[in-house]
Amino acid sequence: MQVSHVYFREESVEILTSQKIIEKGEPYKQLHPWLGQGLLVSSGELWRSRRKLLTPAFHFSILNNFVEVFNEQSLVLCGIFEEICQSSTDGKGEIDVDPYISRCSLDMICEAAMGTKINAQTENSDYVRAVYRMGQLMVEQYMQPWLRNPTIFSLSSLGREHNRLLKTLHGFTKEVIHRRREIGEILNSRKHLETKATEFVTRNQLALLDLLLTASVGGQVLSDQDIQDEIDTFMFEGHDTSASMMGWFLYLMAANPECQGKAYNELLDVFGKSERECTQEDIPKLKYLECCIKETLRMYPSIAGFERHVQEDIRIGNYLIPAGCSVGCLALTTHTNSKFFPDPLVFKPERFLLDQAVGRHPYAYIPFSAGPRNCIGQRFAMLEGKIVISNLLRRFKFEQSPNAPAPIPSFQITLKSLTGIHLSVSCR
Ligand code: HEM
Repeated sequence: MQVSHVYFREESVEILTSQKIIEKGEPYKQLHPWLGQGLLVSSGELWRSRRKLLTPAFHFSILNNFVEVFNEQSLVLCGIFEEICQSSTDGKGEIDVDPYISRCSLDMICEAAMGTKINAQTENSDYVRAVYRMGQLMVEQYMQPWLRNPTIFSLSSLGREHNRLLKTLHGFTKEVIHRRREIGEILNSRKHLETKATEFVTRNQLALLDLLLTASVGGQVLSDQDIQDEIDTFMFEGHDTSASMMGWFLYLMAANPECQGKAYNELLDVFGKSERECTQEDIPKLKYLECCIKETLRMYPSIAGFERHVQEDIRIGNYLIPAGCSVGCLALTTHTNSKFFPDPLVFKPERFLLDQAVGRHPYAYIPFSAGPRNCIGQRFAMLEGKIVISNLLRRFKFEQSPNAPAPIPSFQITLKSLTGIHLSVSCR
């Protein structure tokens, strides 16, 4: 059976809720060399057992551990923006915010997932370079369909570069797992705690990796390879997605100054003019900010679409989908359905206020996908987004820059702007 792609909008519900259509589509195969059998790409029983095992790692009580990391790294970003503003003659820095946000996001996921600082915002390392280059390389490979053939790819110069990058990426994760395991054993035996642990443990909190090291499936401890696959998956899924969300958020704030004003006033109500960090108690008070983030993900969903592989013939609405097909759901078009979102191209955060959102079809809004294979990291992403964005908006004003190129949304695994996100940034 020839594989074909069918993209659905209204019928997405049946695909997403199905317990049968949980296999990923063809394009995900490109991720296998990096992510192995990690949660994003695994299937069948392996996926089910891993999903069950990993879900507790994203519980609120665990995520609260990362508030400190999110604050610390976003304050590094604020320091960088401040320097840029101060070094310009009129106090306004004209910058493409995308790379800055992206490096901040990489620092946060690396520390939360592996308990390891990589200082991507201030230093350059082989690992950071490899993460970025791998993202670009996968887009290049995808755009040249003949390179999806593993043999042809392995003989191409892109394929050889891919292998070199993989070595760096896997080498780094392997080393962290090894060191972290050692530290775990030391912590357990309570020997040489200070000397050894401070080499690699950045603070007194557990990283997602520590939870995996102690987790077990049916009494079997996960192997180092299993853990590596999951950690690489978190690094891949948890970095660019959040960065895309935050970049588009700042663009929309600049494009809608009255909304930025409302969000800022809410922040003033909660924090006053203080410099204090954002705490988990502040988070539920940031209601309008949350609406702005949700509206950003509606208009610019970081993952604009996702695919499933159909293993047996199924009927969806008026369509018969034969086994062997890939079916897709486009969040981007689902989110612009005017039946659920009147004036869909207008930024209206109020649509997500409780009284306006009540009764809306639960699958009308799917930035984190939905159903059994939804995003396991969505609470992580929302918490991270609120902390970073609140720290930025409290300190800086974002405006459109008259001479800057307009952003051009483009599918680059995540939804990115081809021309970057050029804004004018000034201190408040
Ligand atoms: C704004 C940020 C994020 C967005 C918009 C997002 C969106 C998504 C979407 C749409 C999927 C489904 C993909 C598919 O079916 O192909 C997904 C899956 C996943 N996401 Fe996220 N994600 C975000 C952040 C994160 C973070 C921070 C993590 C980890 C720390 C993460 C980990 C995962 C994993 C492991 C899966 C696979 C889940 C499974 O198949 O069981 N994501 N995400």
